[in-house]
Amino acid sequence: MRYAQITGWGRYVPSKVMTNLDLEKLVNTSDEWIRTRTGIAERRIGTPRDTTSSMALRAAQAALQVADLPPSKVDLVIVATLSPDYPMPATASLVQDALGASRAGAFDLNAGCSGFVYALSVGASMITGGLYQTVLVIGSDTVSRFVDWTDRGTCVLFGDGAGAVVLQESALPTGLRSCILGSDGSGAESLIIPAGGARSPATVDTVEARQHFIKMGGNEVFRFAVSAMCRASLQVIKQAGLEPDEIDLIIPHQANVRIIQAAAKSLGLPMEKFFVNVDRYGNTSAASIPIALCEAIEQGRVKPGDKLLFVGFGAGLTWAASVFEWGVGAELRPAPWWKSIVNTVIEREAGVRSFALRTGRRLDAVWRRNGFGGDNGYADGQNGSKHLR
Ligand code: UT7
Repeated sequence: MRYAQITGWGRYVPSKVMTNLDLEKLVNTSDEWIRTRTGIAERRIGTPRDTTSSMALRAAQAALQVADLPPSKVDLVIVATLSPDYPMPATASLVQDALGASRAGAFDLNAGCSGFVYALSVGASMITGGLYQTVLVIGSDTVSRFVDWTDRGTCVLFGDGAGAVVLQESALPTGLRSCILGSDGSGAESLIIPAGGARSPATVDTVEARQHFIKMGGNEVFRFAVSAMCRASLQVIKQAGLEPDEIDLIIPHQANVRIIQAAAKSLGLPMEKFFVNVDRYGNTSAASIPIALCEAIEQGRVKPGDKLLFVGFGAGLTWAASVFEWGVGAELRPAPWWKSIVNTVIEREAGVRSFALRTGRRLDAVWRRNGFGGDNGYADGQNGSKHLR
């Protein structure tokens, strides 16, 4: 029997802090309103240099460092995100290249803020199913780029960041014990970026109508979130053959502390069982659960044998929950002095490799354009520009 265990974890948040007081200068809101209605005190906002892929890369590098694995050992990179760098290519491919994960496949997964729990179950299934041995699962979002900074109903809620875990094949009977993935697309319009996709491509009109920003029915999403969290949690706990009080730590999607409190009450569990850091980061979408997991580990709240419950909800509408049995020591071993040199070499090597591949591709195009190419799989056998065989 094969199991998939988390052996590495890492997070990255931008250095720029935006407090509620900063928001008071932008929209008609108050620190008091934001704190009492959401529990948020501050959030991180990406600088122009921070992108979904760059944050994902930093989190992934940290996770590989903890797992003590070189990028060349990674079989698959999954990036859960609703704010990819581009509509295409996938952000995961950019991360795979920058990381130097030369053997890895890569794809993005969009399940809104539930994305990380979805991606974790996909990655774990790839391992337990025997396809892969090492999967990098990343949640990364730069939601601030899609927030309407004139809409007080949404702009106070979100922040940017990334979190990553390394999943590895293990013989130890731990890891993913149960999982529920859910969707109710009839609620798609409750949380949506209406334009910029194939249904409503970007035009001057869509931009003027501010259709490229997040639109949200806050009350509707709130009610959905509480009930989805409770239903999915109870289902997944039962599926794992456990009772709610046997769960050691619940790491919920961090959207609003009132949603977490309402879910705790409805599940009959004390708030101490829930990890909460929404006060410092706001809602970082697909990154919120892995960032919270990293902080829970740093605070010594995760031990081998612990049963963790991850539960998320978000745009779709979607929800996802999983019970995960922790199997490795979570203490951070201090890295030997030479490790940072090795890591720098690996990072540089990834950059050089990427540059060499790009240059090779360009030279090849020039070579063929000048009639020097051999059989390249194209019917005209010359410039590779027209007819695929
Ligand atoms: O990952 C999933 C993402 N989304 C969520 O999880 C969001 C779920 N929903 C929520 O967290 C809450 O519904 C909000 C925090 C968005 C709103 O809290 P609420 O307690 O549901 O407030 P409300 O929408 O019922 O609004 C109450 C009042 C309204 O004023 P009136 O109509 O009563 O005069 C709003 O206009 O609060 C007003 N309001 C604000 N006031 C100051 C809304 N946003 C703000 C604001 N500052 N930022």
